Amino acid sequence: MGKPYGRSVALITGATTGIGYELAKLYAKDKINLILVARDDEKLREVKEELSLYDIMVYTISLDLAEDNSCEKLLDFVNKNNLSVDILINNAGIGSFGYLSEIEMEKELKLIDVNIRALTEITKIFLPIMIDHGEGAIMNVASTAAFCAGPKMATYYASKAYVLNFTEALYEELRDTEIKVSCLCPGPVKTSFQEKSGIRKNEAAKKALMTAKEVAKVAYKDFNKGKLIIVPGFKNKVIILLNKFIPRSLSRKIILMMNKG
Ligand SMILES: NC(=O)c1ccc[n+]([C@@H]2O[C@H](COP(=O)([O-])OP(=O)(O)OC[C@H]3O[C@@H](n4cnc5c(N)ncnc54)[C@H](OP(=O)(O)O)[C@@H]3O)[C@@H](O)[C@H]2O)c1
Repeated sequence: MGKPYGRSVALITGATTGIGYELAKLYAKDKINLILVARDDEKLREVKEELSLYDIMVYTISLDLAEDNSCEKLLDFVNKNNLSVDILINNAGIGSFGYLSEIEMEKELKLIDVNIRALTEITKIFLPIMIDHGEGAIMNVASTAAFCAGPKMATYYASKAYVLNFTEALYEELRDTEIKVSCLCPGPVKTSFQEKSGIRKNEAAKKALMTAKEVAKVAYKDFNKGKLIIVPGFKNKVIILLNKFIPRSLSRKIILMMNKG
């Protein structure tokens, strides 16, 4: 089977809401079959029902990527359904907010498990298969947070720096292959992520955020073009550029000030 209806298969983690969901919709519209991962079974069922209307195969698996054997379960699921993953989008990510000394240990370790361990393990599982097939595409979702240190969100910023560096390294390793590698680095986006992470923003600040739909549209276009680092939004591009020219000591002070609110 491999490619149902002779069309490619995209695996998207964290595909029930926010950026992952909007990306899933764009793939569905382009008739790419989908494997969708998230924890909430009911929400997965709803998204499957909605996206199946595009005449594609939609496979869903409820997994908590913070759990140890979740990536093995994902591989088993793909194999049992006789699928091959042509496009991999490591989008699922969680945040935490506050001084490291005050955040629960369990929360920080879960963040590392989802944002770093699972992303690495899933890539490590599916990349060799893509290499065997001689083609494939991987997009890892980082953040503009990847470019600097983030006091009051120390673990989250550091986890996204890992994702960016990991993805850049892979891009170089795979330069002479037909495997495309991209790192999506959005600035703050209007999704449930902010609230779930404990980030408080006033109404005016919330209005200025990009929507997940806008982010996904840019990501989809630039990923298809094979762009390595994708930063949606002019303001975010300027912030990253400015960050290159100011000392790190100043950048982290500014971020602490912003995170103190
Ligand atoms: N929103 C922002 O401001 C922002 C900015 C920059 C970068 N990002 C990054 O963009 C990515 C997507 O963020 P988003 O804003 O779209 O988030 P979101 O709206 O909170 O959606 C997160 C998705 O991931 C799934 N998920 C969460 N924890 C999971 C787990 N342990 N195992 C499996 N699936 C899990 C969620 O479904 P379940 O809850 O059902 O599992 C949901 O489908 C993340 O990597 C985030 O770090 C977000």
